[in-house]
Amino acid sequence: MSIGIGVIGTGVMGAEHARILRHETPGAHLAGICDADAARAQAVAAGATVFSDPQSLIASDQIDAIVIASPDATHAALTLACIRAGKPVLCEKPLASSAADALEVVRAEVALGHRLIQVGYMRRFDPGYREIKRVKDTGELGGPALLHNVHRNVRAPEWFDGSMAITNSFVHEIDISRWLLGSEMVSARVEAGPGGEPLMITMKTDKDEIVSTEVFVNASYGYHVHVELVARQGTISLAPASLTLLNRDRAGGLAYPDNWVPRFEEAYCRQMAEWVSAVKAGTSVGASAWDGYVASAIAEQVAEALAGNGVATLKYGPRPPLYD
Ligand SMILES: NC(=O)c1ccc[n+]([C@@H]2O[C@H](COP(=O)([O-])OP(=O)(O)OC[C@H]3O[C@@H](n4cnc5c(N)ncnc54)[C@H](O)[C@@H]3O)[C@@H](O)[C@H]2O)c1
Repeated sequence: MSIGIGVIGTGVMGAEHARILRHETPGAHLAGICDADAARAQAVAAGATVFSDPQSLIASDQIDAIVIASPDATHAALTLACIRAGKPVLCEKPLASSAADALEVVRAEVALGHRLIQVGYMRRFDPGYREIKRVKDTGELGGPALLHNVHRNVRAPEWFDGSMAITNSFVHEIDISRWLLGSEMVSARVEAGPGGEPLMITMKTDKDEIVSTEVFVNASYGYHVHVELVARQGTISLAPASLTLLNRDRAGGLAYPDNWVPRFEEAYCRQMAEWVSAVKAGTSVGASAWDGYVASAIAEQVAEALAGNGVATLKYGPRPPLYD
């Protein structure tokens, strides 16, 4: 049986999720769509019901599960509404725009007693990151010592403000570093380059590993995400994820995409497929609400450190048994 999915927010990410649901997700169909800009919703509906507001989409009998791809500040309230309706959610990252709001979502899910929320930290579904985790978990490289992350965008989205390079971008590295290493972050140090970027963030884990991350959201030349794991008997890193080799002006090289959609297309598709399978089976995959809370809590403390003395001893409460 095909399950009906509703997508809230049909901008860059919501339109991509809608496309994946229509064309690349067996066992599910795009049943409803909603955007604050009705014309934008209409443009990607392709026969799905266009709802005038998120609450009526969440409540509709046509909708079995919900993808939230509206702006960060809307995530917590919409996720809470889905929990109240008892419907599974794939919520784009971050889970909330503050640690307190993310914790409220965790508490609502804990009170419900079963997991309904997956946070869209899609790198966990990327074939390259998965291979690094597989090799690391075999132990053949020895114990991990360092993880180097690079996160560069052509330009920050127009809606970026304040500390979003940390609370919206760096959250990806917090999540993927915790997932790859199976470690928790205990402290952080952050510095900004001239004019405020790039950011250089160094975290220590509870196993004494070092996690370094450069976040450069206006790097101009291309969308470029990289990681290298340095272990005692070897290293493993992502290979260039380029689709093309470009020769021009007496030079040749790999091409970078303009943004994350082509780079992580396979990850978005696998994330959707595995989420749909989990919804049907009543199980859960990917980043939980707890993972979403931890990423937002660390990001908030790193942002505070950037505005202060540059260092933070990271704090987040004990993990509820629901997330063991
Ligand atoms: N996982 C990833 O790799 C990734 C990449 C980019 C963005 N994101 C996340 O996806 C979300 C959306 O980002 P985007 O780049 O698509 O932004 P966007 O601005 O392109 O799209 C957001 C859409 O939400 C609509 N909207 C605003 N308020 C709304 C509301 N209350 N109800 C319904 N619709 C509303 C807007 O009209 C717009 O169409 C953000 O939270 C962002 O952090 C995730």
